[in-house]
Amino acid sequence: MRQLLNARDFREAARRYLPRALFEYIDRGSEDECALARLRESLGAIELVPSILTAHQARDLRTEVLGKEHSLPIIIAPTALAGLVSHDGEVKIARVAARQGIPVCISTQSVTTVEDVASGAPGADIWFQLYMWKDRSRSKALLERVAAAGVTTLVITADTPASPKREYNDRNGFSIPIKYSLRAGLDVLMHPRWLGGVLMRYLLTTGMPTYGHYPEEFRGAVTRPSVAEAVRLENLLNWEDIRQIRQWWKGKILIKGILSVTDALKAKAAGAEGIVVSSHGARNLDVAPPPARVLPQIADAVGRDVEVLADSGVMRGSDVLKYVALGARSVMIGRLPLWGLAAGGEDGADLLLSMLRNEIDLTLCMLGLQKPADCALAVHRPAQITFPTNPLRAAL
Ligand SMILES: Cc1cc2nc3c(=O)[nH]c(=O)nc-3n(C[C@H](O)[C@H](O)[C@H](O)COP(=O)(O)O)c2cc1C
Repeated sequence: MRQLLNARDFREAARRYLPRALFEYIDRGSEDECALARLRESLGAIELVPSILTAHQARDLRTEVLGKEHSLPIIIAPTALAGLVSHDGEVKIARVAARQGIPVCISTQSVTTVEDVASGAPGADIWFQLYMWKDRSRSKALLERVAAAGVTTLVITADTPASPKREYNDRNGFSIPIKYSLRAGLDVLMHPRWLGGVLMRYLLTTGMPTYGHYPEEFRGAVTRPSVAEAVRLENLLNWEDIRQIRQWWKGKILIKGILSVTDALKAKAAGAEGIVVSSHGARNLDVAPPPARVLPQIADAVGRDVEVLADSGVMRGSDVLKYVALGARSVMIGRLPLWGLAAGGEDGADLLLSMLRNEIDLTLCMLGLQKPADCALAVHRPAQITFPTNPLRAAL
């Protein structure tokens, strides 16, 4: 792993290790991948201006989110089937998060259940991401399990009312549930390290990997052709459901997938403690704006009572700081931990996080700033972005 010096190196190592279908499922966007291109442009266009001769000896990367201190302004985003990238991938990533002092959000569609992640990664700050099922009573029962496992922060994903159109998935034979096909079989055979290190390990121990949280009676292998109607994702999810979940869930709630001021204000009115300004990594709606373009107005509109997080497109520590500069308290990363896992299992994900930590620290040092939140002072007029009337900036 000595040559893994930046996120692109990790991505390239993952490309070699993973079957192509799985790599593309993680890496790519939807339809014509315009949102993905805009996402990259939007982060690239942001400039941060240094203050010189500020003589900060050490930076302080600690960040408080929802009243809890994290060692970095980073949270591991929920990613479906992370357990397919590495054997026990969700447990490994949770252990890395614990070691790095940041939270990890486990997806409804993880391979390993939240209970097993909690017992496999003692001390991890585990959040849970909810995709509401059509049978809401089953979602309610799932939330009871999640709370019993010690989770106190719930992330409700609100930007997936339908399956996104990802044509490359159809072409290369990837679907969830995974189907056997000649093409997919050849793809797997051409990646023997993944076949031996991940798939065979499951097959020889717990069997074909499944969606761990799905109710027992529906919980066939992910090779099953269809998931029963009751546990299909609810396409009719609405604000009334959020108020309902507010009654069920005693802990903190964040709504993920917000891209407009109107929806951010509705989330606040529905009682959410936080929001995630996110385009789902540009994997869902191909005409969606990049979060960087809408984040400042949203952060301004909701004010300090609602915790604002952001995600999508982070490839560098400086990208994390850019989102913070635009009004996010902390930033979720989705693809990067998966590249770390694929490149070197638990050690790879740990190395990747350490690399991001160093990049954040170096960028702050070069900017002459001490804390991530100070970046609001450094943000420079990038094209097409309006800035929040941040109190720090107003004081200048
Ligand atoms: C392979 C993959 C699976 C994902 N699965 C989920 C999921 O189950 N639930 C969810 O809310 N978001 C999911 N996301 C979106 C991430 O939580 C996050 O919003 C996104 O990855 C951020 O962009 P980034 O990957 O560029 O960091 C997934 C993303 C990827 C790459």
